[in-house]
Amino acid sequence: MVNIVSNKEQIKRIRTYVEGLDEVMQNGIPEGSVILVAGTSGTMKSSLAFSIMYNQVLHENKTTIYFSLEQSYWSLINHAVNLDFDMSQVNTVIIHDINKLDNKIKEIRASQTGNFVIVDLGALRKQIKDTKIGEQGDWINVIKNIIRRFKEEATLDIITLDSLSALYILSRFENPRLELFHIFEFFRDIGVTSFLISEMPLDKSRFSEYGVEDYLSDGIIYLERTDQYRKVIRSIQIVKMRATDVDLDMYTLYFSNGKFKAMYGGKAPLV
Ligand SMILES: Nc1ncnc2c1ncn2[C@@H]1O[C@H](COP(=O)(O)OP(=O)(O)OP(=O)(O)O)[C@@H](O)[C@H]1O
Ligand SMILES: [Mg+2]
Repeated sequence: MVNIVSNKEQIKRIRTYVEGLDEVMQNGIPEGSVILVAGTSGTMKSSLAFSIMYNQVLHENKTTIYFSLEQSYWSLINHAVNLDFDMSQVNTVIIHDINKLDNKIKEIRASQTGNFVIVDLGALRKQIKDTKIGEQGDWINVIKNIIRRFKEEATLDIITLDSLSALYILSRFENPRLELFHIFEFFRDIGVTSFLISEMPLDKSRFSEYGVEDYLSDGIIYLERTDQYRKVIRSIQIVKMRATDVDLDMYTLYFSNGKFKAMYGGKAPLV
């Protein structure tokens, strides 16, 4: 049953822990939203989603799942450690063997703290490529089943799917617009906050592959790299966020010592 709120203070929000950003969006993203994280290659999409979930696990005892379709779990962890995320501070659970899924779910159910779960879809793919599911390439159902099981048998608050673009390559969508509609419905109905990473084309002509993801999502976080006099600047913009009074301006995005910071105006580039 849907809980209807009677005043805006009752809308629960997920902080992004990006300094300067939560402050201009009523302290965070409404819980249960489906958020598109869009940007061209190398704009720190994965790092941002990782950072939001890491901080939620560390500071708010949340259980999160990072579905990695592009990077193996060790490549993702190497990247995170290089970004100064101390993985020993959070209960990190890696799923790269489908036969161990039951035990991992039991482990999460028994856990008294937050949990950072990484599902290495590439490893699972190699493992079950000769099975029926491998043939059909029905990876969205593998993902949905893992989410359902965590939600029903343990606990689950936030997921990241990295990336939608890789999912399109792995799954053969016959009617992409309709199938995407059902995928977004699934994420909304299951009651977790989800971050769907979308690799934008280099000409930045659209946020996502089929164009429908934009309006199907509850929010869009856009990451950009701009060259100014040979100096490259990173930016972040909340393009939309349903049920949120949000500042739509573009902020300069900094990352240092394991922390993202959004600054209005930002530092002028060196010329
Ligand atoms: N310690 C660090 N501090 C700041 N930036 C870093 C650090 N380590 C890596 N980076 C930057 O992070 C960028 C990659 O981040 P990330 O993988 O999150 O981007 P992405 O948008 O997900 O990329 P892709 O398109 O490959 O998926 C690299 O281009 C690198 O410049
Ligand atoms: Mg990435």
